[in-house]
Amino acid sequence: MRDRDWKILRIIEISMRHHEWVPVDEIIKKSKLDSNEVLYRLKVLNRHKFVNRSTYGYRLSHKGYDGLALNTFIKRDLIKAIGNKLGVGKEGDVFTVLLTSNREAVLKFHKLGRTCFTRGKRYRLYLADKRHISWLYASRLTAEREFQVLNDLYPVVKVPEPIDQNRHAIIMGKWDGVELKRVDLTKLDIDIKKLFWDIVEEIKKMYNIGYIHGDLSEFNILINEEGDFLIIDFAQAIEVREDKIVLDILPGEFKMDIEYYLKRDIGNLLRYFKKYGIRESVDEIYNYVVGK
Ligand SMILES: Nc1ncnc2c1ncn2[C@@H]1O[C@H](COP(=O)(O)OP(=O)(O)OP(=O)(O)O)[C@@H](O)[C@H]1O
Ligand SMILES: [Mg+2]
Repeated sequence: MRDRDWKILRIIEISMRHHEWVPVDEIIKKSKLDSNEVLYRLKVLNRHKFVNRSTYGYRLSHKGYDGLALNTFIKRDLIKAIGNKLGVGKEGDVFTVLLTSNREAVLKFHKLGRTCFTRGKRYRLYLADKRHISWLYASRLTAEREFQVLNDLYPVVKVPEPIDQNRHAIIMGKWDGVELKRVDLTKLDIDIKKLFWDIVEEIKKMYNIGYIHGDLSEFNILINEEGDFLIIDFAQAIEVREDKIVLDILPGEFKMDIEYYLKRDIGNLLRYFKKYGIRESVDEIYNYVVGK
C-alpha cells in the first residue's frame, strides 16, 4: 500500500458520511490526482477487498476500515507487528500485537455498533434498521466508548490498561490468562470463595466509579494460574448516571434500568460460581454493591 492508496481510502471513508456508495467522480475530484491513476488504484484496492464496488461507486469494506486503523497505529509508531488472533468465535476481532517498545499488547477491532447506546439483540435490530447510523460510525462509537470506560476504570479496577484508540479499534495491555469459562477452578490452588468475593469487590469499585459492566460472565473474566483475574470487554458498559440521557434517545420499549443490568451481571456470576458451592442471593450482592 502506497500513501496514495491510503489517501483514496480516507477520501472514501469521509465521503461515506454522505453516500452509501461514493461516486468515482467525487473520489477523483477530492484526490486531486490524475483520473487514470485513481481508477487504477481503486481497481487494486477492490481486488484486495479494501473497498466494495457497485454501479453507484465505491465504499469502504471492513478490511479497508481495519487497514486504516492499523495504518494509523503504525504511523503513530505505536505498533510494529500483528500476531495471532485471540478468542474464537466472537464478535470483535481480537489480535495480539507487538508494540514498538517490544511489549505485547492486544488490538481489538469492533465489528458492530451493537452497543453504542444500549445492549442486547433487540437493540441491534433497531440499529440495523437505522440506515443513517452506518456501521462505520457505530463501530467507531463502540470503540471510543470501550476505551473511555477503560480509561475511567484503570488502574483502580482490574481491567486492561488502555493504550490507544483509533476509529473502531482499541489497543490495550495484554494479560496472560484464560477465560473463567475454560478453567476448572478446583484444579487451581486457590480459595474459590475469596475469588468470588474479590470479583464482587471489583464490581463494587466499578459501580462507585460509575459503571456497570453490562455483559459480565465467565467469558469476560480472565484468570491466571495464581488465581489473579482481570475483567475485560467493556463494549456494553452502562454509565450509572447516564440512564436519563439514554431514555431520551431510545424509544420506550428500550428503557433500561441500572438495577436490572446490575442484577443480571450478578446473576451471571452467581450462576457460574454455583457449581463451586457459592450460594448467595442476587439481591444481597446487589445491595452490597450499591451500598445499601
Ligand atoms: N487485554 C487482554 N489480554 C489478553 N487477552 C484478551 C484481552 N482482551 C481480550 N482478550 C482475549 O480476546 C477475547 C475476546 O475479547 P473481548 O471479550 O474483549 O471481545 P468480544 O467478546 O469478541 O467482544 P464484544 O463482546 O465486544 O463483541 C477474550 O475472550 C480474551 O481471550
Ligand atoms: Mg467477550
